[in-house]
Amino acid sequence: MPTKLNLKIFRFDPEYENPHYQTYTVETQPGMTVLGALFEVLDNQDGTLAFRYSCRWAICGSCAVSLNGKCRLACETQISDYSGTLTIDPLPGFDVIKDLVVDIEPFFDNYRKIKPYLIPKDTPDKENIQTQEEVNLMQPHVRCVLCAVCESSCPVSWTSREKYVGPMALTKVYRFNRDSRDSGGKERLEIIGDETGIWRCRTIFRCTEYCPKDIPITDAIEFLKRKYFTRRF
Ligand code: SF4
Ligand code: FES
Repeated sequence: MPTKLNLKIFRFDPEYENPHYQTYTVETQPGMTVLGALFEVLDNQDGTLAFRYSCRWAICGSCAVSLNGKCRLACETQISDYSGTLTIDPLPGFDVIKDLVVDIEPFFDNYRKIKPYLIPKDTPDKENIQTQEEVNLMQPHVRCVLCAVCESSCPVSWTSREKYVGPMALTKVYRFNRDSRDSGGKERLEIIGDETGIWRCRTIFRCTEYCPKDIPITDAIEFLKRKYFTRRF
């Protein structure tokens, strides 16, 4: 049976309006997601609302927002998790471009810093097949969808974005350094081995708590700290 939910949505347009909240009431349906509710507003109440999405299937990572203060993917979060009023904010710690759309570029700057690609040992002349055991070493870190929830949930990242490469980039180091086809382990450890990398993590665990892919990010960072001393992968 349809019920009503108030969506209190952050609005900001740098050209036309100051930051403020606007509340819309939507009729919810069983199975409706938060992204679905945002479309309900966009299509039927306010065509000026801006938000980001692409796959609608928890794969592209583009729809992350803050829901009642917790960062989540809008496309996989059921609206039935909420009642009364749901407050929707853009991801904290990033500059707002418009409404729920943030400038995610600093997040990808951090990503690029750690060489997030395979650095092969040699040029293979045939397909480089991995055993299941070798694939398992990278699990579940290969599941990262670059949604920025970890970085937005981490108070160290908010307060020192310029000085901290952030949990996602460190997760990616773990993922590539544990890949049997890769030889860039030492190089990446050098990149993250100072106070802008692993040593800035304060083991607050917020990244791990909110990652929508259940990646044990803090464990990966602690693993990298231990590896840093041996410089071996
Ligand atoms: S580690 Fe998790 S929270 Fe962070 S970007 Fe990847 S999927 Fe998102
Ligand atoms: S729209 Fe792709 S993850 Fe939500």
